[in-house]
Amino acid sequence: MAENNTCSFFMSYFEIIGGESLQGEVRCSGAKNAALPIMAGALLASEPVRLENVPRLTDVRTQARVLRELGMHVEQIDGRMLLETVDPRPVRVPERSAQRMRASFCTLGPLLARRRKAIVPLPGGCAIGNRPVDLHLKGLAALGAELQLQHGCVVASARRLTGADIDLCGPNGSTATGTANVMSAAVMARGVTILRSAALEPEIVDLGRFLIALGAKIEGLGTPTLRIEGVDQLGGAPHRLIPDRIEAATLLLAVAITGGSAVVKDIVPEHLETVLQLLRAAGAEIGVQNSGVSIQTPKRLRAVDIVARPYPGVPTDLQAQWTALMAIAEGTTRVQDCVFGNRFLHVAELNRLGASIQCDGNTAFVKGVSSLQGATVTAGDLRASAALVLAGLAAEGRTIVNRIRHLDRGYELLDRKLQRLGAKIERRTVQPLNNSTPNAVAALFNESSRLASG
Ligand code: EPZ
Repeated sequence: MAENNTCSFFMSYFEIIGGESLQGEVRCSGAKNAALPIMAGALLASEPVRLENVPRLTDVRTQARVLRELGMHVEQIDGRMLLETVDPRPVRVPERSAQRMRASFCTLGPLLARRRKAIVPLPGGCAIGNRPVDLHLKGLAALGAELQLQHGCVVASARRLTGADIDLCGPNGSTATGTANVMSAAVMARGVTILRSAALEPEIVDLGRFLIALGAKIEGLGTPTLRIEGVDQLGGAPHRLIPDRIEAATLLLAVAITGGSAVVKDIVPEHLETVLQLLRAAGAEIGVQNSGVSIQTPKRLRAVDIVARPYPGVPTDLQAQWTALMAIAEGTTRVQDCVFGNRFLHVAELNRLGASIQCDGNTAFVKGVSSLQGATVTAGDLRASAALVLAGLAAEGRTIVNRIRHLDRGYELLDRKLQRLGAKIERRTVQPLNNSTPNAVAALFNESSRLASG
């Protein structure tokens, strides 16, 4: 222990004063769930890769750290990122990085294909439930990889991968990052791979387009069946990431929950088709321009049931935010999640804000109330945190949302974007004095709670 036993510890939270009706225009950032597998896919490139529209997020920085430890030069300036392999020898993903972020597992397929060996920690479970990787391993084994589990890591090797006919369908449909891993491996396998039940998520289609830009031969992107003809080498390429459809939808719901009227720009409307239909059914007026969506909402929306399913269904990554929106809708809403059945961490915290939600298995029943009241709330994962922010925007009085490090993993400057739409939201960072002790930290925590009680 250091002599002066200093403990400098930052605790960030959002302070929100609810009741403002959001208005104006806001731009969307690049897609987190495209950036992470595409950054891993850059391991395949024998020349430099230049990415644009890369969001500045904690998870992107974590993935960059993983790639640096795998011998890559990774540099991000604003939304532009340069990636280049400088040392092709490392094949081990460090435990500490892998524990921070599940998507580091997306390096497995590219490492196997390009370096013929990989030691990648198994991603643990997380706040939204068990996160298996059996389909990833099934696909890579079908390509001829030798896989062992040793000390919590997947140890994989392959002299040369060989094309195969693979079906990636799991109990809840396809797998996004599983498709990323197997597709990224198959592009340099000998011969042809047929990949059935491939994920249709736009982020995985974007990865496929990136791999084609590197020189891969992939047919069928955006359909459940891909035909991949392996090549011996992939070059470098520029690539612009698609916009983040989950951020765009979260911003639209932030406007909707406050009865506001705004335009969300720099998005791909067709990636949001299902969500726009839901908002129309709930009573919002939606306008679609080529790269933007406008929304006008009445004071109170109607209850609209959802079932979260793989794309093009309602995204599970929007389920928590939709639950928050329906907390003050007219009527009772049934929210079922068929992708992650435990993804309801936000419910207890929404109820602390005055919502009336009951859970039963993979379904939440949301009885719309006329208003929410501000309180101090804490979420355990990225999208649950977003749901609490939305509820705070609508709640009467002051809401404190703690542990916003979860939000910074997947939303680029969400507070700034909401401020631009007129929200009264401030990022507060509390740094206890040096030599702080646990009870000093507890006192600071109570301070932020006292603020909430106004
Ligand atoms: C991706 O996770 C996203 N993450 C998640 O977004 C998203 O919620 C999820 O897809 C579903 O859309 C990234 O892209 C980095 P899956 P992923 O493999 O790929 C089961 C966020 O908030 N399954 O598509 O890990 C699994 O249990 C994050 O941005 C298996 O059974 O999810 C689930 O029920 C959270 N075996 C379903 O498939 C496997 O080997 C879909 O999971 C893999 C998955």
